[in-house]
Amino acid sequence: MDKILMVCLGNICRSPLAEGILQKKLPNHIVDSCGTANYHIDESPDIRSIDVARENGIDISNHLGRQFSTNDFQFYDIIYVMDKANYSDVIQLAKSENEKQKVKLILSELPSSTIKEVADPYYGNIEDFRKCFSQLDEVCTVIANKLSN
Ligand code: 4NP
Repeated sequence: MDKILMVCLGNICRSPLAEGILQKKLPNHIVDSCGTANYHIDESPDIRSIDVARENGIDISNHLGRQFSTNDFQFYDIIYVMDKANYSDVIQLAKSENEKQKVKLILSELPSSTIKEVADPYYGNIEDFRKCFSQLDEVCTVIANKLSN
């Protein structure tokens, strides 16, 4: 059983979706999410993420925002970040090569993809959230196949 952490900036749009999607595909693994920023601690996900998840049969409404902590390096096996800014924010907090190696851009699990970052849909519209969901669903299928073997 692996412990996987999904990380974005605010922990209200992308990473709660990524958490809900992967948790559904890997019910016996520990999957959580958090943000690098402290803007939305203890807040519910953005209503657009809740709605798009619900459209796809996933309930993320109970998640509460939390900020990444250096303790997460010890507890989690894999830390998936959504974009390069998240990557540098998290890597800066790592204290060892082992901790650094846990951090991966989530779309790097799609080696043939030319898109390397999950775009932040926060300032976009519901279609941007649907696009975000479908990118995350595709990559989480790859991750789930890899981790369930
Ligand atoms: P997320 O999106 O990182 O996917 O949760 C954002 C949500 C809120 C903010 C930025 C990004 N914000 O600036 O409040």
